Amino acid sequence: MITQEQLPMVAMPSMNDTHLEDILIINRLLAAISAQKSNEVAAIFDELVEHTIGHFSGEEEMMREKMFPPYPVHKGEHDRALHELKLVAQKFQESKDLAFAQNYVEATLIPWLINHIETLDTVTAMFLTQGISPCSSGAC
Ligand SMILES: [Fe+2]
Ligand SMILES: [Fe+2]
Repeated sequence: MITQEQLPMVAMPSMNDTHLEDILIINRLLAAISAQKSNEVAAIFDELVEHTIGHFSGEEEMMREKMFPPYPVHKGEHDRALHELKLVAQKFQESKDLAFAQNYVEATLIPWLINHIETLDTVTAMFLTQGISPCSSGAC
C-alpha cells in the first residue's frame, strides 16, 4: 500500500495527476494480491504496464520538446524500470506466484517510484515549468 501522503509532489500538476493514477493502480494490484485473485492480479499488471508506457512516454515527449539536458539519463531509467515491470508481469502470468508479485511491488516498485519522483521527475518538472536546469548546479 502506498498512500497519497507518501507521493512526492513535483512542480507540474499533470505529472502529479499521472503519479496519483499510478499509485491507485498499484494499490488495486496489492489488494488483488492480498485477496489471492490471480486473474485479477494478471489483469491489473497489464493495466499497470499500459499506464506506465503512457506515463513515461508523456514525460519523455515533454523533455524532448524542451530539450531537457539530462534527457538520456531520465529516459534510460524509464526504459530499465519498464523492462523490469514487463518481465515481472510476464513471469507472474506464467507462475501465478503471488508472493513474488507482492515482493516486487512492495520491495522494488514502490521504493523505486518514490525515489524516481523525488529525484529525476522533480528536476525535470522544475526545468519544464521554470526553466531551471539541473546542469547549473553541476548535476550533469
Ligand atoms: Fe513520472
Ligand atoms: Fe520519470
